[in-house]
Amino acid sequence: MLVLGLETSCDDTGAGLVEDGRLLAHVVASQEIHLEYGGVVPELASRAHITLLPRMVADVLGKAGRRLEEIDAVAATIGPGLVGSLLVGLEFAKGFAQARGIPFVGVNHVEAHLLSPGLEHQLPLPLLGMVASGGHTEIYHLRAPGVAARLGSTRDDAAGEAFDKVGKLLGLPYPGGPHVDRLAREGNASAFPFPVARLGNDNFDLSFSGLKTAVKRAVEREPQPLSEQRIRDVAASTEKAVVTALIDRLSLALEKHPSRALGLAGGCACNTLLRREAERLGRERGIPVLIPSPILCRDNGAMIAYAGWQTLVCGLRTPLTVSAIPNLDAFPAA
Ligand code: KG4
Ligand code: ZN
Repeated sequence: MLVLGLETSCDDTGAGLVEDGRLLAHVVASQEIHLEYGGVVPELASRAHITLLPRMVADVLGKAGRRLEEIDAVAATIGPGLVGSLLVGLEFAKGFAQARGIPFVGVNHVEAHLLSPGLEHQLPLPLLGMVASGGHTEIYHLRAPGVAARLGSTRDDAAGEAFDKVGKLLGLPYPGGPHVDRLAREGNASAFPFPVARLGNDNFDLSFSGLKTAVKRAVEREPQPLSEQRIRDVAASTEKAVVTALIDRLSLALEKHPSRALGLAGGCACNTLLRREAERLGRERGIPVLIPSPILCRDNGAMIAYAGWQTLVCGLRTPLTVSAIPNLDAFPAA
């Protein structure tokens, strides 16, 4: 079964092709129009999706050497995300499905991230999975295909949001996460003892708003403008605080919820230190750590095609009357 997946929940326009669960090709266009505003402008994002999406579909078919007529089903992100952006991909997919008389599946963006390690690896279950991105930081226990519990989530900012806000404070381009990662490699992670929120040993929740405030105060106390080395030190100390918090909760979750693998996904799973520390945690616990290639950690159409395929093989499809659900939740809380 050849499934086309479309992702338009925020500012990345992605299209992916998965055949019988195997990734054939994917393409993604990151909208650069938002750079000058230092954040995503929703109206500009939806307009850009309208222009980019048909091109992405043509490109992914070309890359895979397949024809439009060969597509057996189409999947698109239904939520969570920006309503205008979601609607572009969703309506495109529904129109395509109706015109071609093929099934349509609406996909939960966070569930697609959670399953995305399956694009490149076998997924042993139960799997402890974390989705850490600009809008989400959540820990799940995936017990069987389509059956998972949300163990914890951030109570305020997402991990990526913390990186991006610190990036902004340091005058780095948006999104700050990849720049903080790059600068941190030459910084002293012990230069600033930023706080790591620990919300007790009976839950797996996280909090990053205190970190953002601590970084702001520390930066204000420094002689201005900050030297290049001081910027690298703030980046490294921030990265250490975020990664320590994430690994701490993953470690506790693995203790309480035995798992056969640890999965990471979402844009923050590109982070060098997080990948290294997760590998170390996996070695300690004797389980494999499954992290997609960096391009597949971020928003992409391949994960939507893959999650859509998983739904379709269970015999499910989504009625064409469905609309976008901007605040859609993933699996229920444990
Ligand atoms: O999954 P994603 O592409 O989009 C959302 O659904 O949000 O994630 C984007 C987020 C941004 O906050 C970005 O700064 C962060 O992922 N990010 C990183 C890195 N690459 C992307 N954060 C830390 N280190 C990175 N290398
Ligand atoms: Zn995402």
